[in-house]
Amino acid sequence: MALRLIQLSDIHFGFENATAVDAATAYVRRTPFDLLAISGDITQIGSEIEFAKAAAWLAALPGAKIATPGNHDTPWAGLVERMLMPWERYDRWIRPHAPATFDTPSLAALSVNSARGWQIRLNWSKGEISRAQAKAAAAALEAAPSRARRVVVAHHPLVEFPGEPMTGRVRGGRRAAERLALSGADLVLSGHVHTPFVQALPFGDRRTFAVGAGTLSRRERGEPPGFNVIDIDGDALTVAAMAWNGRTFHIGHAWEVTLRPIAARPETEA
Ligand SMILES: [Fe+2]
Repeated sequence: MALRLIQLSDIHFGFENATAVDAATAYVRRTPFDLLAISGDITQIGSEIEFAKAAAWLAALPGAKIATPGNHDTPWAGLVERMLMPWERYDRWIRPHAPATFDTPSLAALSVNSARGWQIRLNWSKGEISRAQAKAAAAALEAAPSRARRVVVAHHPLVEFPGEPMTGRVRGGRRAAERLALSGADLVLSGHVHTPFVQALPFGDRRTFAVGAGTLSRRERGEPPGFNVIDIDGDALTVAAMAWNGRTFHIGHAWEVTLRPIAARPETEA
């Protein structure tokens, strides 16, 4: 069964690359897909104005969506709000248009919030996945229909890969990634670093793939603005990282890997 996901990330409304966002939006409108996944940093400073813009954009996009917040999607100007209700704005503006889960017999996706309003460390932009979050996500993956491809959407890459321009330094990330891999995750999507990549997670059968998307903002880190088109056809996974050259999108990078055969999974359905 063929599946297509489009992964958009790090749009940073308020500091978006407007022409790239418009072109990506047009691409999404004319391209058939099964799920649009948005891996966080939808806004720049988590302001009401930015969230309103993001929500209007999401509402106008076709098809099924899933999203997760990034570290920029909490109010940067409101310390009390960040500490007491960091995701109130995200939940109010974004959640109605892009829920946290997506379930069909052929595709089960869930988001895991790796961002925090504040942390007991100096750099609050880094990530964290609690044991409870990892446990809940693993349980949801294991409960998915046995024929479904299993996809997790987080903002931060859960483990670090060499060559990336910045780190996620996710507390509990490695532990969570291992647990997700052992629970049958096929893909773990992320943003944050603003550069695209596909890497096998070094756990279990090494057939769980971390897929990072670029940014549609002006916060470029050595790569042009972009997004991912993810195609699954049987056990074949193709990821095309679309790259913006100022006028149009073209395939900047592409990866082809082999997913874990669905038949190799333990049966989890009754
Ligand atoms: Fe970002």
